[in-house]
Amino acid sequence: MSRSFLDVTDCTAGEIALVLEIAERPIEALGRPLAGEGVALIFEKPSNRTRQSTEMAVVQLGGHPVYTRGEEVGFDVRESVEDIARIMEGYHSAIAARVFAHEIVERLAAAASVPVVNMLSDRSHPLQAVADALTMQQRLGDLTGKTVAYVGDYNNVARSLGEISALLGMHLRFGCPAGFDADDAELARLLLLGAASVEQTTRPADAVAGAHAVHTDTWVSMGQEDDKQARRQAFEGFTVDEPMMAAADAAAIFMHCLPAYRGFEVTADVIDGPRSAVFQQGHNRMHAARAVLAFLLGVR
Ligand code: CP
Ligand code: NVA
Repeated sequence: MSRSFLDVTDCTAGEIALVLEIAERPIEALGRPLAGEGVALIFEKPSNRTRQSTEMAVVQLGGHPVYTRGEEVGFDVRESVEDIARIMEGYHSAIAARVFAHEIVERLAAAASVPVVNMLSDRSHPLQAVADALTMQQRLGDLTGKTVAYVGDYNNVARSLGEISALLGMHLRFGCPAGFDADDAELARLLLLGAASVEQTTRPADAVAGAHAVHTDTWVSMGQEDDKQARRQAFEGFTVDEPMMAAADAAAIFMHCLPAYRGFEVTADVIDGPRSAVFQQGHNRMHAARAVLAFLLGVR
């Protein structure tokens, strides 16, 4: 079994720092570790950024990406997850998957002899977190001791952002409605990972006060569409708008993994305004994917 990247915490703080450094290296310096090799990219859910950026990252490393829709391989429907892993490891140097149940990427990684990369599960979105950290570092400099705020649903994106921000020694603040927040064990886990502090509140303006980066994500994740109306009601008051951003640090940036729903989790004037880093963040998905794959393939 080789090294996989299912969660940010599959890497140590030092390794995350190395991955962020690899992401800044010129492509030519990475030595085409995938020359003549394939990478399987399996998607059970739609994607713009993750598919495009990971395909291009594979090409930049000299390899060939093979995009496959989830239903084509049919995890545990057409054949077992383990059989899929054992076949694909014969064609590919890595297997990446976007899945509903996190357990699927865990089983792929347990069965495959090549690295497995989580391209989003119900639990986490670690490639997104690497791009988020890279963007914050580029815009804010050294992140140690800086404050990252996340407003909205404590979901896959929030969890992975919390993990990487903790490993980088940041202060973490979550502004989430009750029932959509992190439990005490989860907050304690993030503190143990190395966060300078971890706080959670149901008052988003308090979470954002003095923060250097303000993140949010959709209130309705893929697979939750049936609950759209109820969720939109539950998140009323959690829209990141100009008055909320005014409570943040004067130089604070706004971040969102995208896709965004203007008028719900964020207003158009914030996401399309001068503090928004969302397109740099989106473009960094490619540099992050390239760095993670290179790291898993042995680049140091
Ligand atoms: N941020 C992100 O993962 O976007 P996609 O769903 O478009 O890949
Ligand atoms: N939380 C969102 C992220 C989309 C990139 C989802 O899971 O749909």
